[in-house]
Amino acid sequence: MKGIVLFKGKYGATMQYAIWVAAALNTQAIKAEFVSEKDLSGLDYVIIGTSVYIGKLQLANWLRQHAAWLKGKKLIFFIVAGTPLHETEKLRSYYEGGVPALLRDQAGVHFLPGSLRFKKLSLMDKLLLTMGSRMAKWRGENINTKDYNSVSREHIQPILNELHNLQPELQH
Ligand SMILES: Cc1cc2nc3c(=O)[nH]c(=O)nc-3n(C[C@H](O)[C@H](O)[C@H](O)COP(=O)(O)O)c2cc1C
Repeated sequence: MKGIVLFKGKYGATMQYAIWVAAALNTQAIKAEFVSEKDLSGLDYVIIGTSVYIGKLQLANWLRQHAAWLKGKKLIFFIVAGTPLHETEKLRSYYEGGVPALLRDQAGVHFLPGSLRFKKLSLMDKLLLTMGSRMAKWRGENINTKDYNSVSREHIQPILNELHNLQPELQH
């Protein structure tokens, strides 16, 4: 069974998960911007990792532009975010808002907890996060601006399990 991990993140959390998943599957992790249609031809599955910024998937535009490259392949998405895992409705809204419906039909999705180091953010991201968190407060919601790091290898296990369960299906 042949596959690839493609991803887009900003400060390393998504890349770390992509590297762990690729290593566990003995395949490659590639930044989405460097993937060509040819790289995807002949693959059985594509694992797609993206983080979330101000409610939007980092890969939203890429997925819209390149949906045709992925059509008909088994897809497994992983979405890396600061939103706590029990806020399932919010997390699903990121997925449904950023992944075209025609791709969701052939996909599984996993939500993985991310990390934040405020000092490391670009000036623009510091501003966006601070403003976003203030606006969230007015809406009675909470966006964390304090540092956290919940990135851990154990979180990739459900992705590996999904792929494992798919193997008989993909081999037919
Ligand atoms: C400017 C900014 C905006 C963010 N917006 C959201 C958001 O809307 N929802 C969310 O769940 N997490 C949000 N996050 C948290 C990131 O998704 C989290 O830090 C993630 O680990 C980033 O992964 P990356 O380093 O691979 O890009 C935001 C972080 C920053 C810095």
